[in-house]
Amino acid sequence: MDASRQLHRLVTGYQVSQAVHVAATLGLSDLLADGPRSVVELAEATGTDARSLRRLMRGLVAVGLYVDSGDDRFANTELGDAFRNDVPRSVAGWARFVGRPYHWQAYASLEYSVRTGETGFEAVHGKPVWEYLAEHPEEQNFFAGAMTALSGVVAEAVVEAYDFGQYGTVVDVGGGRGLLLSAVLSRYPSVGGVLFDRPDVTAGAQQLLAAAGVAERCRVVGGSFFESVPADGDAYVLKSVIHDWADAESVEILRTCRRAMPATSRLLLVEQLLDLCPDPVRTAFSDLTMLVVAGGQERTTDEYRSLLSAAGFDLTRTVATASDFFVIEAVPAQ
Ligand SMILES: C[S@@+](CC[C@H](N)C(=O)[O-])C[C@H]1O[C@@H](n2cnc3c(N)ncnc32)[C@H](O)[C@@H]1O
Repeated sequence: MDASRQLHRLVTGYQVSQAVHVAATLGLSDLLADGPRSVVELAEATGTDARSLRRLMRGLVAVGLYVDSGDDRFANTELGDAFRNDVPRSVAGWARFVGRPYHWQAYASLEYSVRTGETGFEAVHGKPVWEYLAEHPEEQNFFAGAMTALSGVVAEAVVEAYDFGQYGTVVDVGGGRGLLLSAVLSRYPSVGGVLFDRPDVTAGAQQLLAAAGVAERCRVVGGSFFESVPADGDAYVLKSVIHDWADAESVEILRTCRRAMPATSRLLLVEQLLDLCPDPVRTAFSDLTMLVVAGGQERTTDEYRSLLSAAGFDLTRTVATASDFFVIEAVPAQ
């Protein structure tokens, strides 16, 4: 492909992203799970305009999600099949969130963030993303679903790579609806869990914990990690939490954890690392998302070491997992 064509693809990448988002929102891959269907059938099932849906399908065929099987019928490709909701490691929940208009609008302020160093989301919506989500339950639902979808892949890899069996109680701070914690508790039956997040988020956790069969071993607590977190855990896990925040707030959150932790307890950050990332494109763009949406950043191992040190911890080791995420282990400084 010549440079001009390659550049054209880069420049219009957002169109593909939005088309894939609409495919996930309409559940097209799920509708094609049992074989090819006509556009008219798909339009009926999704309540959409058949002529426009045909045009969307043409685009999605061009990018490899579906195949035109003749007679105005379409089928899943291998990629399309992996985009169903009911398959392991599905990213459909992530795709449903990424194209939501409020998130899309925030991302449109990337230039503003690059020029000013400020969080575009706040310039566009007038408040931090967490406040916005608390005030918009439907969007909170899409976001929590997206995090659960993304965390599914990572959770499996984390519980394989790191031995949580050595701990009595694991506290998941900013644990969302408890996807990682339920993976920990399922894999290690002797461990008890505490799920901690904002009350508007933990309200949706019970269903996930019950479905995983771990609700009886897990306490759910709502609150803010700028005030306090549950005390006396043997390990405190924060997955994809510290990358949401600038250094000053990150240190504050880590100090709150430090205050709640016995001296023998361990802190486990589950994050991508800029210096070790297996997929540099994903990590670099995750960093830009943190710039625009949350005001945080991805960091190198050394940057995490400094942050931890400022909050009263010593980084002991980083553990690679079969995902883009690492477990960064730390202990209270003596
Ligand atoms: C990027 S999500 C990560 C969720 C989960 N750990 C995961 O990886 O799927 C960040 C989480 O931090 C939570 N959070 C934000 N502000 C918080 C606060 N002040 N106190 C507690 N949790 C908070 C959000 O509700 C959200 O669930």
